[in-house]
Amino acid sequence: MNIKSICCIGAGYVGGPTMSVIAQKNPHIKVTVVDVNADRIAAWNSEDLSQLPIFEPGLDKVVAEARGRNLFFSTEVDRAIDAAEMIFISVNTPTKTYGAGKGMAADLQYVELCARQIAKVSTSNKIVVEKSTLPVKTAEAIKDILDNTGNGIHFEILSNPEFLAEGTAIQDLETPDRVLIGGESTASGQKAIEVLKTIYAAWVPEDQIITTNLWSSELSKLTANAFLAQRVSSINALTELCEKTGANINEVANAIGTDSRIGPKFLKASVGFGGSCFQKDILNLVYICKSLGLNEAADYWEQVIIMNNHQRERFADQIVKALYGTVADKKITFFGWAFKKDTNDTRESAAIYIADKLIDEHANIQVYDPKVSALQMQSDLNYLNSRSESDNDSYLSSEKDPYKAAEGAHALAIITEWDEFQNYDWKKIYDSMSKPACVFDGRNLLNKSELEAIGFSYQGIGQ
Ligand code: UDX
Ligand code: ADP
Repeated sequence: MNIKSICCIGAGYVGGPTMSVIAQKNPHIKVTVVDVNADRIAAWNSEDLSQLPIFEPGLDKVVAEARGRNLFFSTEVDRAIDAAEMIFISVNTPTKTYGAGKGMAADLQYVELCARQIAKVSTSNKIVVEKSTLPVKTAEAIKDILDNTGNGIHFEILSNPEFLAEGTAIQDLETPDRVLIGGESTASGQKAIEVLKTIYAAWVPEDQIITTNLWSSELSKLTANAFLAQRVSSINALTELCEKTGANINEVANAIGTDSRIGPKFLKASVGFGGSCFQKDILNLVYICKSLGLNEAADYWEQVIIMNNHQRERFADQIVKALYGTVADKKITFFGWAFKKDTNDTRESAAIYIADKLIDEHANIQVYDPKVSALQMQSDLNYLNSRSESDNDSYLSSEKDPYKAAEGAHALAIITEWDEFQNYDWKKIYDSMSKPACVFDGRNLLNKSELEAIGFSYQGIGQ
């Protein structure tokens, strides 16, 4: 069976790019992406493609090709749900900030609201696909809500987790390592899997489309991220040892990465991983393990997060220590605020935690990031801490010109690995800074010996 219309609830970092590519590759299917956030939808519909609500290399081209043809962005959620044969749930599932499982379990209120809404407005059979990262067995809860509150029509639930990384989302969607589809083993479940498979088969070779049962699919998503995050924490766990002993983490990473059993990817030492998935998914895994009484497994995975928190704190401590034990009233410039390059997403970025720690010490932070707005930086900080907003405002400012941002700074911290930082006139930056001009390279992005030759005091991670 081929379907003609898809609705996606949630026009965020996952729903937006995923649906754009699905629409581009399946011109015969009408794809409507809906969101309750009218500003976000207006931005998706803007004529000027540089105004799309999320920055993602290559996304503008895909949207330009499909939008208005078979790709639509709308706030009319109910109408789009009922008109569709297949509905993707792509709403946010942040870590709970209240009640049972606070700080660990996923907050499923948006997912539940979606399920209730689908049940309420649907008048024909639907395939409902969970796209957001969800803890194992959520599909069961969604199915329960749909079956018990719906109008007696048939809902089939699939799990189709996303594996796209921000900054390379379009590339990841166009040439994925694999697509994972989980469904029930009933005849209708298997049929639903086939329907979704046909959509991806428009551009993904069939042998790269893996099908599993629902629970395996849900758990694979969580554990894929946990394994990746674990690699980052593992390499970061060695950085301190390198600094103490004179080994160089870049050399160590290169040496172990050439062992094909280990491989070169995800071995870049850093200020710590960020992003909307890693921490959330691991905490989810920890919570599930704890709920089942698997305390050793829970502790094992929790250590990945503990290591990551330590790496951020260590970075802030190093800055304070190098500036003679006090940063009060000193200007510290951050290059980068996003959680990684090529995205304007700042969720769980190390920048927020490092800024917060330095502001506790009364430092003045000025930030230059090519894609993140000043408003976003302020709201990230306000969300994290209990300082008054005006206090945050007075300690954190942003600057659109990187050279101005560096002027008079006692220290410069590279937080995000934006390529453009490598092409700057570092002599000019050195001349404008307070001496000794310290660079703390949280991404090992710059060349240590070149910077030292200019006169900088350079401190990388693990070197
Ligand atoms: C991740 C997964 O990669 C993706 O498959 C999943 O679907 C969503 O979560 P994303 O969060 O966009 O994607 O970014 P990713 O590239 O995985 O990086 C996560 C964090 O780890 C970033 O802060 C990044 O800077 C950091 N990182 C990554 C390192 O510090 N070192 C590395 O070697 C790799
Ligand atoms: P992700 O990174 O998972 O895509 P985002 O926060 O970027 O997360 O996007 C999720 C989107 O889902 C937001 O734009 C939010 O407004 C939208 N959303 C949440 N709940 C609903 C709902 N019940 N109906 C429509 N849209 C919703």
